[in-house]
Amino acid sequence: MVDFEIRPNRKPAPDAERRAALDTAAFGQAFTDHMITLRWDEERGWHDGRVEAFQPISLPPSASVFHYGQEIFEGMKAYRQEGGSIALFRPERNAARFNASARRLAMPEIPVETFVHAVELLVRQDRQWVPDGEGNSLYLRPMMIATQPTLGFTLPSNSYLFCVIASPAPGYFRGRTGPSALSVWLSEEYSRAAPGGTGFAKAGGNYAAAFLAQRNAVDNGCDQVVWLDAVEHTWVEEMGGMNLCFIQSSGGSQTLMTPALTGTLLPGVTRSSLLQLAGRLGLGCDEGRISVDQWRKQCETGQITEVFACGTAAVIAPVGQVRGADGGWTIGDGRPGPVTMRLREELIGIQYGRIPDEFGWTHPV
Ligand code: COI
Repeated sequence: MVDFEIRPNRKPAPDAERRAALDTAAFGQAFTDHMITLRWDEERGWHDGRVEAFQPISLPPSASVFHYGQEIFEGMKAYRQEGGSIALFRPERNAARFNASARRLAMPEIPVETFVHAVELLVRQDRQWVPDGEGNSLYLRPMMIATQPTLGFTLPSNSYLFCVIASPAPGYFRGRTGPSALSVWLSEEYSRAAPGGTGFAKAGGNYAAAFLAQRNAVDNGCDQVVWLDAVEHTWVEEMGGMNLCFIQSSGGSQTLMTPALTGTLLPGVTRSSLLQLAGRLGLGCDEGRISVDQWRKQCETGQITEVFACGTAAVIAPVGQVRGADGGWTIGDGRPGPVTMRLREELIGIQYGRIPDEFGWTHPV
């Protein structure tokens, strides 16, 4: 396993500043005292691992990432458990997805144990930054960028920087899990990912290309954009930065339906956890497909009773309104539904160590 040299930050944030950040920072605004860096080149493989002060990264403007966007990232969280200890949630899944992204972007894979070890080291170093309290966590953002100073496009970069930063995070949609559920905007004009593309990878470029549609959603008074498939512009895929789940009722039984992983959607860790949890709660599970028309009709007939967004940052956020160029509709009574909130309670309960983890998802640090 790669070694990491620990070089403590000589000017960590004063206690008062850290406490203020833990209390008030919105998602992704405050950062901890340290970061992880690890370099890769063809000769040495992964080398020069460090836990060091959170600081700017210096790169020549010719570095390949600035021109061709060869960048991937992950989103994961550390949770303060009852009693004060800290646990990560399914970090190996993030490592595996990071490597799937790396393969698609022609970047080097990082051994799963090195990825997890790097994240653990950062959490241990900055453990005072892991907030307590329901909904709060330390959000971890591993990433990898192409650093070769070249405009050449014959081959992928021959050097890379892996880095992990951490940010104390309140709920992503703070205050939006109460009576006011999310409203979402159907993006009929733009596509996120086409078959054969990078939709399943957590590549920065996917998110860069999503901002225009996301801004469109906000300009139309919505919180999030909903992407449709790029071929028929018919089938619901996912949202800006999270997967979508539908609660369908039929003959007294309920099913959690989520769009199948066709290669154009992100395989969310929260999504896969909820599919497993749903079974334990007696719900059916279906990885299927649903068109916009079916979504609207099934809401009208009462077949779809609840819809929610799920992701690491978002956790589970109920969706109340759908809007698009042709108007819109309300899901149920527009308020968070009981199945959504039950799933949320279960998931959060496991993440914070309040509910026994029979799946082996929690990873003590
Ligand atoms: C995450 O949920 O971790 C993500 O990466 C989504 C991002 C848009 C905040």
